[in-house]
Amino acid sequence: MEAQETIIVTGAAGYIGSHTLIELLQEQGCKVLAIDNYSNSSAQTYQRIKQITSATFEVKELDLCDYATLKKETNYLPTIRAIIHFAAYKSVPESVKNPLAYYHNNISSLNNVLRLCEERQIQQFIFSSSCSVYGNTHQLPVTEQTPVQKAESPYGHTKQIGEEMVAAFANANPWFSAVVLRYFNPVGAHHSGLIGELPLNRPNNLVPIITQTAVGKNQLTVFGNDYSTRDGSCIRDYIHVSDIAKAHLLAIHYLSKQRHKTAVSLFNLGTGYGVSVLEAINAFEKVSGQKLPYTIGPRRLGDVEAIYANNTWAQHELGWVPENTIEDMMRSAWKWQQTLESE
Ligand code: WQD
Repeated sequence: MEAQETIIVTGAAGYIGSHTLIELLQEQGCKVLAIDNYSNSSAQTYQRIKQITSATFEVKELDLCDYATLKKETNYLPTIRAIIHFAAYKSVPESVKNPLAYYHNNISSLNNVLRLCEERQIQQFIFSSSCSVYGNTHQLPVTEQTPVQKAESPYGHTKQIGEEMVAAFANANPWFSAVVLRYFNPVGAHHSGLIGELPLNRPNNLVPIITQTAVGKNQLTVFGNDYSTRDGSCIRDYIHVSDIAKAHLLAIHYLSKQRHKTAVSLFNLGTGYGVSVLEAINAFEKVSGQKLPYTIGPRRLGDVEAIYANNTWAQHELGWVPENTIEDMMRSAWKWQQTLESE
């Protein structure tokens, strides 16, 4: 990479963005501009990233829904090689309660970032998408060719719309190429225990609720044990956030080597293994050495019964091989919760 070339990371202080930033900074010769509005993150995360990597990077606090500011604040960059676009609201239940905030934020910010690609001829783009685009599919494991179904939430719908926007932009601009990464269930934390998922409000996701329950700050309810699965609880493909981060680096290399055969390349990022809620709880108890109190409650609206990935395409094309087991994921999440308790 040319020394003056920059990679812009939006949502860089967020959960997956911050873990990807670490991987990017540890790759030699990578200049990074980190953009975030801290609506669901903290600038303190950048201090911890500097502590982990000893690397320097540019930081801008701005709202991507404001194109004039985005353009002005990035004008100083001579060459922008790529944008990795994480910035989005991502809570499934919150999107059901507040759909307009999700459509406005997730679609407008993406539209502005693609507009910047057009104005600055930014040729490489990575879009943070989600297995939520598959909806309640019964074709398991899902491949990248599995037809998307009606989204189960406005969040999932914004990801479906986002993927279509990226494809339409690529079709209209032959010089542009993109990788769309469909994350399954990102969990866990950086092995240092210095950064991790930082729910600023009450978390909705299973793993932070597990670790908060273990320290007495939450009460875990298992949302339904009457599904048609091996133990009655929902099945998901939990994937370590650091494995997800590494996939972004491989996607940058993939775009640079022009090995892609189409303008937009889609990849599932999951382990390929389904884990039930009760199995995830057991894995936590095993690594933490403590019994986790929980109750069984009714099913949660919007939940799909089971979804897990066929990840062979990402392995073949990106050379991506997830390394962490469910125990590794729980061990790192527990270490991160203990860091939070010690502060
Ligand atoms: C997992 C399972 C719940 C909380 C997430 C993200 C979404 C997307 C896909 C990336 C479900 C059960 C949960 C609790 C429970 N990821 N659960 N009690 O809904 O699969 O979606 O992954 O883009 O952004 O939200 O994840 O962690 O909320 O739920 O029983 O207190 O755990 O029913 O079966 P979900 P989740």
